[in-house]
Amino acid sequence: MFTLVKCIRVERKKAEEGRRKLCDGGHLDTGYKPASSGDYVYFAVRKKPSGYMVFEKKMRKISFKPHSLHEALEGKLSAKEIDEVVRSFDVLGDLAIVEIPPKLVRKQKLVAEALMRIHPNVKTVAKKMGPMEGEFRVRKLKHVFGRPGFETEYRESGCVFRLDPSKVYFSPRLSHERERISGLVKEKEKILALFAGVGPFPIVIANRKPKTQIVAIELNPRAFDYMVENVRLNKTFNITPVLGDVREVVPEIAAGFADRVLMPLPKGAEKFLDVAMLGAKRGAVVHLYTFAKNDDLEEVKKAISEAGKNAGRKTKILLTRRVRPFAPHVDQFVIDFQVC
Ligand SMILES: C[S@@+](CC[C@H](N)C(=O)[O-])C[C@H]1O[C@@H](n2cnc3c(N)ncnc32)[C@H](O)[C@@H]1O
Repeated sequence: MFTLVKCIRVERKKAEEGRRKLCDGGHLDTGYKPASSGDYVYFAVRKKPSGYMVFEKKMRKISFKPHSLHEALEGKLSAKEIDEVVRSFDVLGDLAIVEIPPKLVRKQKLVAEALMRIHPNVKTVAKKMGPMEGEFRVRKLKHVFGRPGFETEYRESGCVFRLDPSKVYFSPRLSHERERISGLVKEKEKILALFAGVGPFPIVIANRKPKTQIVAIELNPRAFDYMVENVRLNKTFNITPVLGDVREVVPEIAAGFADRVLMPLPKGAEKFLDVAMLGAKRGAVVHLYTFAKNDDLEEVKKAISEAGKNAGRKTKILLTRRVRPFAPHVDQFVIDFQVC
């Protein structure tokens, strides 16, 4: 964008020297790109430097890309208001999901516009209307700005996921875990993906290890439909998506099936340990996700050991890892254990 501004000119061969002088004297206006014409270079100035003639010239404004949401909001909201805005937000393809504090509801469009300046690919901004809820672990969203609707396509580890986060669970913050587990999987493993959602764990694994056989079970019909679509989009046909409750499906089709069992249900996976034991072959590895307050995993470890005893099997903890912070003093963890 060109704007008519005050500037001075310096002979081309002395341009760098002139620029430095203007800079040192605090005269240079760094918001505009220097322009050259004939034997001269023109610099925009804030105030007249002595010894130079001042001209008016159309100069190109340097566009500045902010690095953070807080930076992008400078000049739009007061410093106190900016402090209220949560720094982190999720970008899923062309959809951004942000928290808007109640005090800033009237200024939410400014937050959305600022967010779109940092992520020019974002077409829709939605705000969180509460926590993840219910059996399907879904969060209500409300449209704030941009194109209507929440369906989007998110890319991760060479895979694409179509989903609507107002109807199904999805978190880009588990991408590291999906990479980690797909790295552990051996070529021809049989995998039981419980609580499969729109398929991110099974699809990332199947894409990297196409000779695996994966049974992926999901209760939410919308998430199941997206999983079927995502299997097709990624051509990961070594996955069998199943709609239903793991408690009913596993005894029917997957007893003693798996070399590896995935349990990504951090709120309540312990209640399904008996199902995991039923699906696990001897020597199988189970990945259980859980929330823990103040790093206290003792209760969950006890539940694992008891579920093993009830199934007449020994369990051995292989690893515990903090996956991500969740709430004050509460983190999400993964426990990898072996069923011997
Ligand atoms: C926390 S989400 C994880 C989804 C997916 N694995 C991911 O990482 O995006 C848990 C999922 O388990 C599903 N679910 C909850 N209870 C279930 C059950 N008894 N049987 C099958 N799926 C269940 C929910 O609908 C939800 O999609």
